[in-house]
Amino acid sequence: MNNKALGLDKTLYDYLLSVSLREPEILTQLRQETAQHSMATMQIAPDQGQFLALLVKLIAAKKTLDIGVFTGYSSLVVALALPADGKVIACDIDEEYTAIARRYWQKAGVADKINLHLAPALETLEKLIAVGEAETFDFAFIDADKSNYDNYYELALQLVRPGGLIAIDNVLWSGRVADPQVQDNRTNKIRAFNQKLYQDQRVTLSMLAIADGLTLAMKIRN
Ligand SMILES: C[S@@+](CC[C@H](N)C(=O)[O-])C[C@H]1O[C@@H](n2cnc3c(N)ncnc32)[C@H](O)[C@@H]1O
Repeated sequence: MNNKALGLDKTLYDYLLSVSLREPEILTQLRQETAQHSMATMQIAPDQGQFLALLVKLIAAKKTLDIGVFTGYSSLVVALALPADGKVIACDIDEEYTAIARRYWQKAGVADKINLHLAPALETLEKLIAVGEAETFDFAFIDADKSNYDNYYELALQLVRPGGLIAIDNVLWSGRVADPQVQDNRTNKIRAFNQKLYQDQRVTLSMLAIADGLTLAMKIRN
């Protein structure tokens, strides 16, 4: 037995997937198409997607934010987990990536649940607050440009209801956050962000060693 997170090698990770991944065929197809893309590593892991779906169901989420769409895996996995009247507000700036996403949302029959905002995510989130949507979201997934993580987090914290959940991807940044030799801007931003969340009493916190590291922050109820 071991009471620390296991560094999964390929054999153990394949085993984990073989006994737990229940990926709908449409998500497998999307993953296979994205694997051919030059930026394929930006996609979330399938076990991570399944975990997001479980969280969304667990909190009975209806209204959600997807900050960083790429080819649409996280938006699609969440949309499939939502009830028929559920919504994903999806934020990205890239037409080419999101054209693939739209195609799969259509094919999966959930396009009506997903509103894509093709604009800098900061603008989209600020607009949502300006039109009175603060504290109306149940769930937010942050996975866009790392330099804005803190800004996305602050805006998402205004947009989710008390008891709502924010999930933040890539917080372990391929392990670079723990290597003091690595001092580039993005790594330092993620380090500062992780440190800030550790101290942040506005949320209940958990950092998980799943995929590239996933932090869960639940907005505390007053
Ligand atoms: C890591 S990928 C998202 C992966 C996605 N969640 C998935 O499940 O495949 C990051 C995305 O953030 C988008 N992005 C980068 N800067 C952005 C910005 N300022 N506003 C909105 N989206 C941005 C990129 O175009 C890219 O599609």
